[in-house]
Amino acid sequence: MKTKIIGHRGGVAGYPENTLAAFKKAVELGADGVEFDVQLTKDGEIVVIHDEFIDRTMDGSGLVKDHTFAELRDMSVGEFFSSEFKNQKIPTLREVLEIVKDMEIINIELKNHLSYPNLETKVLKLVDEFKIRDKVIISSFNHYSLEKIKKIQPAIKTGALLMAKIINPADYAFKRGFDALHMHFLTIDQKTIEKAHFMGMKICAYTVNYSESVVDLLEKGVDMIITDNIEMIQKLRKNAKN
Ligand code: G3P
Ligand code: MG
Repeated sequence: MKTKIIGHRGGVAGYPENTLAAFKKAVELGADGVEFDVQLTKDGEIVVIHDEFIDRTMDGSGLVKDHTFAELRDMSVGEFFSSEFKNQKIPTLREVLEIVKDMEIINIELKNHLSYPNLETKVLKLVDEFKIRDKVIISSFNHYSLEKIKKIQPAIKTGALLMAKIINPADYAFKRGFDALHMHFLTIDQKTIEKAHFMGMKICAYTVNYSESVVDLLEKGVDMIITDNIEMIQKLRKNAKN
């Protein structure tokens, strides 16, 4: 089993998160997949952005959901990182899928702590339009949303995002029909990996940027590693046993 390398928000060192520039580079580097976050604008466009507030990465302020797509598109999402990327604009899910559709794994994280009407249905519609159902994993910290996804389209893979070390995560996810546990890397133990595998589920570790942890997780046999530095993990995986 070879652990898959997934670029976190694109996951390329030196590139701003969740930008078309980062996703293009991740494809060029030969990552197995990418992870990115989706939300809805005021006028219902699915956009790729991490924070619910635009303040950190854009030259505006307030919630994503209180801005129209046109308003957001007027701002830069790369300048906060470096002037080199000042022309990067907030991407739509469609634009990102155009770039990453041939990758092995496409991890769409529904960033919906806030309520986004019909986000699940809208995302699934686009997944079907691109005919990428087999390679998509939909993850979320909002597990109600994952249940909704499974109800609408049982064949779609779902990953339950966990931050805390909960009791019996494998039982928890299995009972709800989820396909994977996307766990904070420090909370992953061998017993959970084995139990999840026994139950037919996968383990994805996020967000791993420290070489010691990477080596440990590769040895433990996690299925996926989400990282901000694809190239670093590729080198470590090359030298690893699994
Ligand atoms: O999906 C893994 C990771 O992205 C979850 O945390 O806050 O970076 O979206 P966050
Ligand atoms: Mg994310």
